[in-house]
Amino acid sequence: MSSTLSSILASALLVSGFAEAASLNSGRSSGPYFARDNDSTCAATSNWPGWSKVKYAFIFGDSYTQTGFETTGTQPTPTNPLGNPTYPGYTSSNGPNWVDYLTVEYNASKILTYNLAYGGATMNSTLVAPYEPTVSSIADQVVNEWLPTYASKPSTAPWSSDNTLFAIFDGINDIGNSYYNGVAATTTLNAQIFANFHDLVNKLYNAGARNFAFLNVPPVDRSPGTLVYNADAQAMEKADIAAWSTSLTNMTKTLKKEKPDANFFYVDANALFTEVLDKPSSFPQTALYKNTTGYCVDYENCGIPVNEYFWLNTLHPTYPMHEVLAEGVAKVLKTGPNIC
Ligand SMILES: *[C@@H]1O[C@H](CO)[C@@H](O)[C@H](O)[C@H]1NC(C)=O
Ligand SMILES: *[C@@H]1O[C@H](CO)[C@@H](O)[C@H](O)[C@H]1NC(C)=O
Ligand SMILES: *[C@@H]1O[C@H](CO)[C@@H](O)[C@H](O)[C@H]1NC(C)=O
Ligand SMILES: *[C@@H]1O[C@H](CO)[C@@H](O)[C@H](O)[C@H]1NC(C)=O
Ligand SMILES: *[C@@H]1O[C@H](CO)[C@@H](O)[C@H](O)[C@H]1NC(C)=O
Repeated sequence: MSSTLSSILASALLVSGFAEAASLNSGRSSGPYFARDNDSTCAATSNWPGWSKVKYAFIFGDSYTQTGFETTGTQPTPTNPLGNPTYPGYTSSNGPNWVDYLTVEYNASKILTYNLAYGGATMNSTLVAPYEPTVSSIADQVVNEWLPTYASKPSTAPWSSDNTLFAIFDGINDIGNSYYNGVAATTTLNAQIFANFHDLVNKLYNAGARNFAFLNVPPVDRSPGTLVYNADAQAMEKADIAAWSTSLTNMTKTLKKEKPDANFFYVDANALFTEVLDKPSSFPQTALYKNTTGYCVDYENCGIPVNEYFWLNTLHPTYPMHEVLAEGVAKVLKTGPNIC
C-alpha cells in the first residue's frame, strides 16, 4: 500500500507553477453553470441496457477516481465487485470515492467494476508531464492496460457491448499542470489533448465499447492549492476549466455524430462541486461540511472533524463530496444518454 498511497499523497501535494507567494483571495467565484445533467432526453440505442442492467464498468481517471486496483490482482466478482484492493481501496477522499459509491450504493444492479485510474494521471504524459514519470496516464490505462487485459473479453471479465459502461474522468492534472502558461498555450495544448482523447475513445469503440460516461473538471480553482495564489491565477485556472468543459462537450457531440450506435453520458461534475461549495446543505450527504476553503493540516485537532472539511488537502475533497458525485453520475445514467 505504501507506494500507491504515497503516490496519492504526492499527487495531492502537486500544485502548479506559480512560485510567487500571493495574497489569499477570500472572494468566491460562482463556478460556471452548465445545463442540468438531466435536461436532455436523447433516445438510447440498443447498446444501452438501462442503468439497472449494466453488468460491467471500466473506469479511467486520476487520483479523484483511483482505488488502487491492479489488473494482475484479484478480479471483481459478485461478492467482491471491485476486486482488489480491499474496499474502499486507496482513495484520495479519506473514505470511499465516487467509483466505490457508484458500484455498491448508487448501483441499480450488481456491477463488476475494473478501475484503472491512477493518481496524478494526465491524458497523455507526453502532452502534459505528470508529477512523476511512473504515473499511468489515461492513454496508458487504455492502451497498455485495458486493451491487452480486457479487450478480448476474458473469462474474468466477459463483458459485451450492450452491458458495459466506460467512464473517463480526466483533466484535473492536465489543467493543474498547464493553466498558468496562459490562454494561447492552453488553447493549443487542449486541442492536442482532445485529439488524443478522441483517438483513445476510438480505440475503445473499435474494441466494442458503446456506452461512455465523461465527467468534466470540478472547480479546483477553488481548492486550497489554488487559493494560495492570487486572483489572476485562480481566474486563469477557472477559465481553462471552462474551456475544458466546452471541448469535452464538443468532442462528445462529434463522437455521437460519428458513432450513432453508441451512447454518451455527460456528467457535469463541475456543477455538482460548485453547488456543494456554494451551499453544502444542497445535498444531505454534504450538509455536515463546515469549511469549504481550507483543510486541516494534520487531519486532526482542527476544532472540527476532518470530514466536516470539504477539502482533505490542497486538491482532494473528502468522501461526502464523492457520494454526491456518485449519486449525480447514477442520476445521469438512470435518466439516459444526454448527448444526441
Ligand atoms: C432534473 O433535475 C432536477 C434537479 O435535481 C429535478 O428537480 C428534476 O425533477 C429532474 N427532472 C427529471 C426529468 O428527472
Ligand atoms: C448494488 O451492489 C451491491 C454490492 O455488489 C449489491 O449487494 C446490491 O445488491 C446491488 N444493488 C442492486 C439493486 O442490485
Ligand atoms: C501520446 O501523445 C504522443 C504525442 O502526441 C503520441 O505520439 C502518442 O501516440 C500518444 N499515446 C497514445 C497512446 O495515444
Ligand atoms: C469541435 O470538434 C471538431 C471535431 O473534432 C473540431 O474540428 C472543432 O474545432 C471543435 N470546436 C471547438 C470549438 O472546439
Ligand atoms: C477553514 O479551515 C482552515 C484550516 O483549518 C482555517 O484556517 C480557516 O480559518 C477555516 N475557515 C473557516 C471559514 O472556518
